[in-house]
Amino acid sequence: MVESSQAHGPAPMEGHGAYNRSSRVQAAGSSPAIPLLEKAAREVQLPLPPEPVVLVDYGSSEGRNSLGPVGAAIRVLRDRIGSARAVSVVHTDLPGNDFTALFQILASDPDSYLEADPAVFPCAVGRSFYGQILPSSSVTLGWSSWAVQWLSRVPGLIPDQVQVAYSQDAAARAAFYEQAAEDWRSFLVHRAAELRPGGRLVVLSMARDDHGDFGYRPAVAAIYGALLDLVDDGFVSEEEARRMVIPTVGRSRQDFMAPFVGSGSFEGLTLEEIDVFYGEDRIWIEFQSHHDAARYSARWAAFSRASVCPTLAASLNDKEVRAAEFIDRMEARMIARLQVAPEPMLIPLAKMVLVKGSLE
Ligand SMILES: C[S@@+](CC[C@H](N)C(=O)[O-])C[C@H]1O[C@@H](n2cnc3c(N)ncnc32)[C@H](O)[C@@H]1O
Repeated sequence: MVESSQAHGPAPMEGHGAYNRSSRVQAAGSSPAIPLLEKAAREVQLPLPPEPVVLVDYGSSEGRNSLGPVGAAIRVLRDRIGSARAVSVVHTDLPGNDFTALFQILASDPDSYLEADPAVFPCAVGRSFYGQILPSSSVTLGWSSWAVQWLSRVPGLIPDQVQVAYSQDAAARAAFYEQAAEDWRSFLVHRAAELRPGGRLVVLSMARDDHGDFGYRPAVAAIYGALLDLVDDGFVSEEEARRMVIPTVGRSRQDFMAPFVGSGSFEGLTLEEIDVFYGEDRIWIEFQSHHDAARYSARWAAFSRASVCPTLAASLNDKEVRAAEFIDRMEARMIARLQVAPEPMLIPLAKMVLVKGSLE
């Protein structure tokens, strides 16, 4: 039996710009989905003027990785609607997300989509996308990258790992995959309600490849190994470590397609296309030219730190006091482990296009 007493649910990414600085792996992984968003912007059914075109970014984090896709979609929309029509951009994330960093980057980054477009109006929603968070039939175009692999809650403890994909515990695996199936249906139900008829949604997510591989094997080994190191050091108690899990699941192609099997649609949504592919491992590509193991390990440790360490830290007993040191120590241990034998990382991803209303 798995229990989840006191296991902490997903926490937002590390704040104060840390996610923005350490998420180039995600940016590279999302780039093959941007043409899908541009195509969706070309084909989406638009609301009649003077209604604004509403573009929603589900799971934005601190926003740097939203600038490229949102900017690309706006450029395509401008060709269709001209320069004067209002475009509303809604960035959504969990309530604890660093929305200050997001608005700062929108205001100051030279790549911001706000540059030279006074008819774009950004705003934010700090609520979970596992509920309806925008008015019914209000959304024209949706984008979500690297977010839906995060579960709505921790469905149980993982006795032998922090990441369920590498656990041998059958009960833990069953609980996580069941939660992932329920959460995917719930995500779709609420997006179906929010999208206008003819609206489109592009989703990029971590995934399991067609051989069932979740990928990131060296990084996950370093995270779990670092945590065990901190237990050995006496900095983390065994009881705290037992509660620490990363509530992410890589769904397979079949998992993403499951709600659509049979009728071909789910809650009025159609899955127009889905592709499971591998993200480019830029850190490995760079390593092959610089051969600097310390640089390689620092990059992967920073990726892991910014994306999963805040969630692990949330299970500390006195997290207000120890979280910052915990995260620093985790990063140092991950660096030490990853630099021993640099190797490429498998980055399985899924990209898909969903359409509200039946396809003509
Ligand atoms: C890895 S970041 C991705 C950020 C950005 N979209 C990108 O592509 O780099 C995942 C984001 O999803 C958010 N997230 C996770 N679960 C969520 C939920 N239930 N509702 C809204 N956002 C969620 C996290 O807080 C985090 O900011």
